[in-house]
Amino acid sequence: MSEKTFYIETLGCQMNKADSEKISGILGTLDYTEVSSKEEASMLIMNTCSIRAMSENKAFSHLGLWKKLKKKNPAVKIIMCGCIAQQTKEKIFHRAPQVDLIFGTQNICELPDLLKKLETEKKVCSILQKPLPLEDDYTPVRQKGLTAWLPIIEGCDYFCTYCVVPYTRGRQRSRLPEDIIKEAKQIAAEGYREIILLGQTVDSYGNDIDDENINLSNLLKELDNIEEVYRIRFVTSHPADITDELIRAVRDVDKVCEFFHLPMQSGSSEILKKMRRPYTREEYLELVRKIRQEMPLAGLTSDFIAGFPGETDEQFDETLSLLDEVLFDHCNTAAYSPRKQTPAATWENQVPAEEKKKRINILNEKVRQTVKKSHEKFIGETIEVLVEGFNEEDGRLKAQARSSKIVHFKGDKSLIGSLVYVKITDCSIWALIGEMVYNSSIVNL
Ligand code: SAH
Ligand code: SF4
Ligand code: F3S
Repeated sequence: MSEKTFYIETLGCQMNKADSEKISGILGTLDYTEVSSKEEASMLIMNTCSIRAMSENKAFSHLGLWKKLKKKNPAVKIIMCGCIAQQTKEKIFHRAPQVDLIFGTQNICELPDLLKKLETEKKVCSILQKPLPLEDDYTPVRQKGLTAWLPIIEGCDYFCTYCVVPYTRGRQRSRLPEDIIKEAKQIAAEGYREIILLGQTVDSYGNDIDDENINLSNLLKELDNIEEVYRIRFVTSHPADITDELIRAVRDVDKVCEFFHLPMQSGSSEILKKMRRPYTREEYLELVRKIRQEMPLAGLTSDFIAGFPGETDEQFDETLSLLDEVLFDHCNTAAYSPRKQTPAATWENQVPAEEKKKRINILNEKVRQTVKKSHEKFIGETIEVLVEGFNEEDGRLKAQARSSKIVHFKGDKSLIGSLVYVKITDCSIWALIGEMVYNSSIVNL
């Protein structure tokens, strides 16, 4: 084990992944080297997620294993950050005394000072409720590949009754367009070809800034000018914040992929109201109709929760019928998990665990059936894909369509990183299968 090495485990959403990339960037400036094996690290960092009980349990079970590593080598430092850290603070020390340093989601830039403090103090915990701005004197160390994450808006103001995020990430804060564009140019210069703009409600971008020109549609138009970037996406959109202008921008701005991740959560308007989601089933369906009218092959994905407090069999059936009606390209599903600080966790009408389990199984089966059906509309179509990898075993390339569907087809490894056209001939449960039509490097676009 060399002196200054760190291993980082990232749980949770892309926001946490982007934060881990910032942490790696900061540690790089302190001469730490990232290692891929826990055993080789002098510092073990866990960036945690508290969206569901399962995510929290995962973090603590990892910590159990790390305790053994620390026992073997007491010099190893264990650090916990991210959403559980922000919410649970120094109480973590009671549950996991092997942890040396705790910091939250709002003070990542304090890390150099906190590590210094740890040289003289046994336990250090620093959680801030208000964000400290990140200094500009480091560059995130991004995961290798073609795609880079770029956070444009932090926090969330919606306070859905089941969700912990506003308590772990604070209030909504949009970054300034000039800072985002500067970072996007750096990303392009590092060789990434796709940028995914990130936010818990990415389409609310700019709502908190007193300038009506600062919005997602205008930002997309600006980013479209960066030559080396082939593709731009944005996640996650809140259905209530998608504007007609944004739909038109996705349709018209060349590099912006026709893809919307639009978590609906429930197909029942009554449950949506109890969740504090400000739209009805009908309004959501109208939004889907508008998007598909403008872009018939647009990718549409969603998130659903089964067994929200008070959900009746009939209301759950409304979620199933909605999936049949929309035929999403992909859906994330979860059984409702009560979270501390959230209103729904205190309600008495909780759905029994057995029933939630039954519903999540039914929901997952419905997702499988409907996603497979959603693939079928692509058969016979010729679509643009970005080639991301090659499978040596079957000689097939793995690529991503603009709609974000995965596409497999025979081709040469040298195509990795290019845009090519593929005619879709078949599909499996998870992917589309096709044949290459012709190669189009970005120069020809
Ligand atoms: N900001 C996004 C969602 C972020 S959280 C949005 O508003 O759509 C990601 C997903 O986790 C949510 O869409 C929801 O489906 C799920 N989720 C959040 N809290 C949950 C809870 N308490 N129990 C189960 N699933 C939950
Ligand atoms: Fe959570 Fe709702 Fe905010 Fe999404 S919009 S992060 S579900 S509170
Ligand atoms: Fe989890 Fe925090 Fe993301 S709770 S889903 S890591 S914002």
